[in-house]
Amino acid sequence: MNKIYLNSEEKKGKINKNIYGHFSEHLGRCIYEGYWVGEDSDIPNTRGIRNDVVQALKDINIPVLRWPGGCFADEYHWKDGVGPRDERAKILNTHWGGVVENNHFGTHEFLDLCEQLDTEPYICGNVGSGTVHEMEQWVKYMTFAGKSPMADWRRENGREQPWKLKYFGVGNENWGCGGNMRPEYYADLYRRFQTYVRDYGDNEIYKIACGPNVDNYHWTEVMMERARRFMDGLSLHYYTVPGDWANKGSATDFDKQEWEKTLKKTLYMEELIEKHSTIMDKYDPEQEVGLIIDEWGGWYDVEPGTNPGFLYQQNSLRDALIAGINLNIFNNNCDRVQMANIAQTINVLQAVILTEGEKMIKTPTYHVFDMYQVHQDAELLAMETNLESIELDDKKVPGVNVSASKDKKGNINITLCNLDPEKTQKVECNIIKQKLKGRDISAKIISAESLNAHNTFDNPEVVTIQPYNRIKIADNQLNIELPAASVLLVSLG
Ligand code: AHR
Repeated sequence: MNKIYLNSEEKKGKINKNIYGHFSEHLGRCIYEGYWVGEDSDIPNTRGIRNDVVQALKDINIPVLRWPGGCFADEYHWKDGVGPRDERAKILNTHWGGVVENNHFGTHEFLDLCEQLDTEPYICGNVGSGTVHEMEQWVKYMTFAGKSPMADWRRENGREQPWKLKYFGVGNENWGCGGNMRPEYYADLYRRFQTYVRDYGDNEIYKIACGPNVDNYHWTEVMMERARRFMDGLSLHYYTVPGDWANKGSATDFDKQEWEKTLKKTLYMEELIEKHSTIMDKYDPEQEVGLIIDEWGGWYDVEPGTNPGFLYQQNSLRDALIAGINLNIFNNNCDRVQMANIAQTINVLQAVILTEGEKMIKTPTYHVFDMYQVHQDAELLAMETNLESIELDDKKVPGVNVSASKDKKGNINITLCNLDPEKTQKVECNIIKQKLKGRDISAKIISAESLNAHNTFDNPEVVTIQPYNRIKIADNQLNIELPAASVLLVSLG
């Protein structure tokens, strides 16, 4: 029997809503076709941005959106993407499929998208192949209200008032596609570049330094030691790859063993956060620097017949579990994790939305973001657990993964994932300092008949959120039956 003791009065800190953030790159069909169809398209749009996608993303309240990359960011020269569209530079997207990038979606279009979504923009600047001057000018172009060549150019291009821009990344994966640097070198470059990422007027920028790849603890150590006082956030990238990079595995054609391997690898996020946080604590005991997990999610082989450089993959019930587990882990570490951005919003990697022409579907991952939005800006609740172990690919791990929060209205929300591919788990949940009698208790579930169940354009509702009632109350305790391979939300209103 799994036991959870939840203290409804002991708050462990605010769950920053930005944990529910997204990442969208100029990669495959994420920007073009995904968001951008152009003003003349038959697909209903507002200033070129598709309305169905905006509505779907508004419905899950996405708080922050990272752009333009990714690897693309360190080859992106922002001036290519402003001014009259038909005069914009056509460049080669070297990283992703070698296709022509016509720059029709640039700074104005991205910031318009963020305004339509009512989401905070998070822009990643070019350190790898850009200059300090170029970065300095970009920030001025976007945020300076006064007179200057950049602000004047923005006005000429149709935007009188500056935008509010809070989040700015100084390079992406500078240990890899962003310049193959060593941390000692990047730490100095970071210090230099960020100097010119200035605050104009009342715009205050939260500066995010490029952090480690997975378990590169040395990178974290060097960055914290040498550049801590110049940064507000340090990023971390970790993807769940079931196989290895040469043979990652299929998004939908997998067996029980691969399910186990995938979820075991997903749980590794916990260890990474703990170990990187321990290093950060050494240099930043007040926990002022946020850990910004600005790329995470499942990464599989591309769908057969699609461009390998486009990273288009399907999304199954297994992805719902990857999302549910990661988001619970981020919630539980909300003292340090201040933002996370799933890779990537549309048509790329663990997407929440897939499109095909005018059609759009919501993936199982979308439904997890929908279900978990109750945690945004809520207070994490203290809990103690005594969870049964299951064997995942020869490793013993707790079979249930959980987090809980209390929102401003006093509603308590508990999200639980059953990692076991075959067995229902029984969970006893004691709510301390809270009488259950008289409270409105409800639950919702995401699950399916098969582990690889997924939504298609012909059958878009195979995996969705369903009401759930296999919960009983006895002696101020919730007795929950958690079906195999499921994500559950229990709410106490
Ligand atoms: O999300 C796809 C790519 O993965 C990003 O461009 C890069 O930052 C990472 O390696």
